[in-house]
Amino acid sequence: MIVMGIESSCDETGVGIVRWRDSGVCELLADEVASSVDEHARYGGVVPEVASRAHLEAMVPTMRRALAAADIDRPDAVAVTIGPGLAGALLVGVAAAKAYAAAWGVPFYAVNHLGGHVAVDTLEHGPMPPCVALLVSGGHTHLLHVDDLGAPIVELGTTVDDAAGEAFDKVARLLGLGYPGGPALDDAAREGDPNAIAFPRGMTGPRDARYDFSFSGVKTAVARFVEARRRAGDAIPIADIAASFQESVADVLTMKALRAAEDMQVDTVVLGGGATANSRIRSMIESRCTTAGVTLRIPKPRLCTDNGVMIATLGAHLISAGASASDLRVATDPGLPV
Ligand code: KG4
Ligand code: ZN
Repeated sequence: MIVMGIESSCDETGVGIVRWRDSGVCELLADEVASSVDEHARYGGVVPEVASRAHLEAMVPTMRRALAAADIDRPDAVAVTIGPGLAGALLVGVAAAKAYAAAWGVPFYAVNHLGGHVAVDTLEHGPMPPCVALLVSGGHTHLLHVDDLGAPIVELGTTVDDAAGEAFDKVARLLGLGYPGGPALDDAAREGDPNAIAFPRGMTGPRDARYDFSFSGVKTAVARFVEARRRAGDAIPIADIAASFQESVADVLTMKALRAAEDMQVDTVVLGGGATANSRIRSMIESRCTTAGVTLRIPKPRLCTDNGVMIATLGAHLISAGASASDLRVATDPGLPV
């Protein structure tokens, strides 16, 4: 069985094609992604209208490249991200998936973007045992409990305000580091002292939700710190601010991921999303997993960011678990829960 996955929930137009193997591991046949990230740079964040138009322009060429790379005329099934994501952006991918599935006469499967971030790890690291997944990107911050990729996934927690990557981008902008600022902030932090400034750890008090996150407090604390320095005419210690901010975010994310793994009694943690590229999130979760005797699985960077392969892989798992095809009348769901 060959499954095509279409992704358009944010600023990446992705078309991936995989072949399902009975071993429960997919073989990657094509991975085509067109990104509109450069078009958003001058606005300092993803502009939904710009993203929708870029998807519209990129969808058919990306699809053609994927079919050519996989050397097939059509897949046996089409899976698409139905949500969560930007409403207009999702519509482009879902309309394309429906149209192609109908034209080819193959079944159409509407799948959840977040599950895709977890499923994609099986390509490299094999079948997925019960696990806790931590997804961190510019659009989402989620802690999930996955028992089986063919079954519904449980959301343990999410951010109550900014996504982790978004917080990185906003703090980077405040420090004049450009957009998307996550990688630049990561670089700047290398020269800084992570303990120089005691920035707050959001939602870690005894009365706070066990698995939810909040990053607006630390972002505001950085803004206040910078403002106070400016008013006093003092130099802004960019490297120390970056390192201390990064330390706060990495500490909360990894602490809650390990807490969830312990509570759920699983011995595997999976990372996903573009912000997993962050060097401190990686080093901290690696050492905390080692201490706890937990196996850490991280897909390679290209598959951590949004792509069509993750949707194809999740689709293949659902189909092999016996999921019924979706109705072509199914609507996009920008706020889709897990
Ligand atoms: O998954 P992704 O490519 O796109 C979506 O958000 O959908 O993630 C991009 C996000 C941006 O917010 C970017 O600043 C952040 O991931 N990011 C990083 C790093 N690399 C990417 N954040 C912190 N440190 C990094 N090294
Ligand atoms: Zn994503």
